Amino acid sequence: MTVDATATSVSGINIKSSQNRLLIKNGRVVNDDGVEDSDVYIEDGIIKQVGRNLIIPGGTRTIDATGKLVMPGGIDPHTHFELEMMGAKTADDFYKGTRAAVAGGTTTVIDFVLPQKGQSLLEAYANWREKADNKVCCDYGLHVGVTWWSPSVKKEMEQLVSEQYGVNSFKMFMAYRDAWMLDDYDLYCAMETCTLLKALPQVHAENGHIIARNTEKLLTAGVTGPEGHEMSRDEEVEAEAVNRACVIANQANSPLYIVHMMSKSAVEALDLARKRQKQPVFGETLAATVGTDGTHYRNSCFRHAAAHVLSPPLRPDTRTPQAMVEALADDRLQLIGSDNCTFHEKDKELGKGNFSKIPNGVNGVEDRMSILWEKAVNTDTMDPCRFVAVTSSTAAKVFNLWPQKGRVAVNSDADIVVWDPRLERTITAAAHKHAVDFNIFEGQRVTGGPQYVIVNGRVCLDDGELRVVEGLGKFLKTPPNSPFVYGGAPSIGKQQSAPPSPQQESPVRVTNGTPTPTDLMLVNKQLEALGSVSGCSTPTGRKMREPGQRDLQNSTFSISKEIEGLDTKTSVRVRNPPGGKSSGLW
Ligand code: URP
Ligand code: ZN
Ligand code: ZN
Repeated sequence: MTVDATATSVSGINIKSSQNRLLIKNGRVVNDDGVEDSDVYIEDGIIKQVGRNLIIPGGTRTIDATGKLVMPGGIDPHTHFELEMMGAKTADDFYKGTRAAVAGGTTTVIDFVLPQKGQSLLEAYANWREKADNKVCCDYGLHVGVTWWSPSVKKEMEQLVSEQYGVNSFKMFMAYRDAWMLDDYDLYCAMETCTLLKALPQVHAENGHIIARNTEKLLTAGVTGPEGHEMSRDEEVEAEAVNRACVIANQANSPLYIVHMMSKSAVEALDLARKRQKQPVFGETLAATVGTDGTHYRNSCFRHAAAHVLSPPLRPDTRTPQAMVEALADDRLQLIGSDNCTFHEKDKELGKGNFSKIPNGVNGVEDRMSILWEKAVNTDTMDPCRFVAVTSSTAAKVFNLWPQKGRVAVNSDADIVVWDPRLERTITAAAHKHAVDFNIFEGQRVTGGPQYVIVNGRVCLDDGELRVVEGLGKFLKTPPNSPFVYGGAPSIGKQQSAPPSPQQESPVRVTNGTPTPTDLMLVNKQLEALGSVSGCSTPTGRKMREPGQRDLQNSTFSISKEIEGLDTKTSVRVRNPPGGKSSGLW
């Protein structure tokens, strides 16, 4: 086990026992369904108490969160660490990638096992576990790619869903024709198998055949630079595949999760298709498309343009980022990931003279939360509850980690971000924690970011100082049959077109087109409107069952047991801050 260079040495210290008690005091707890002024007491990696006037053992470390939001740590449902693709290997491995995640407020990632065609899925899974288990600085789960089809693949999917392996989601590609693409027949079979296993099929939605033909035509015409990447796969190519994936899922009576939706056309196609879907469909977008756009492909510097290449690509239509934020806010999209898949400049150069050979992928795991906060909450397009939903809670629900993850509540894991809505920084590769030397958000000023990040009860970002521990994270088994996907309860991702009830109205938007991006008064107003204890104002206010992964009724924790044997001098009663309960955002 090694500790980040920026951390003080922990040699000789039992990490667990030295930090097993923590109190976060005077903060405003934000969950996806409400806001509450509460203190949070953590012991042995678990949230033990939430409320005011808590009775806390003496010697407990206290973090003063006055003026801060206490939110569930982010869950990034889409990363690629240590992935080999297109002749290169990603710069971020499981250590540096999860280190970057934690630095940005994310405390769980879900990575993709991507087998080669013909490779055993179990073998690929074992490789991924070997790469990740001793390196991760936070908990992680795995999706598995179904990159070819045969009876043995079906059998291995069955095994992977078992308790032994803990996989509940499979990604199929409609693009990358020469590598991972499935045809529609195989995609249909894979979706049927997912349904049978009560796993969730995920789809990369782009038409691989059209991309291949367009690429040939562009190269022949002499278009060889990075701009050819988007030209070969425009919005229509994505939207067609979104629709086709929905049709196939409907035929298979399968739920569906569409990864990295990158365009307005794709969102429109999803919106239309969803009206006829029998099962829920979830749409994920990326920090990349919220934070930047496809005009960069026209940059005359190859390095700059190639660094923005990912698939589906960023869109040259500069209205796209705001449109994606709005779709996230009003529940046409449900989640935001990063698709973090970073390549060094020397690797991107593999595509000099032929854009189709540029390794696909960008950064995002570190800046995902700040970028969305800046573009969505600071512009009053989204309130903090919805921010928590799309960055954390919904992923926990969909991948059956709820309420262990994605919630600040008694008995949930102590994965917490203390968010400072006033923290200002300029994003730059010179300061980021990624291994890669380029950042697609370079130079962007963001207001709002993590001051403390707590991973399984350990303070891993400590007042801005990163103190991650390599290997501290653990593998999370994700059981099948998530009630939020298969449970029959009114579910996220279903019946999107119904008009919102009065309680579900979207937050008021700035409609004059000139939002003041750092106007903290907006956040203040939103939180004031929510009150000190309130329900969420965003459209995910539908009632959902809360299946307990950990039996909440059966906790072994008892306050009376805790204070037994403690004299009054060593126990501390935590009270409201001087002046009583605050109003607004302090
Ligand atoms: O460009 C991307 N998205 N790279 C990672 C592989 C994938 O398709 O998710
Ligand atoms: Zn993909
Ligand atoms: Zn990806």
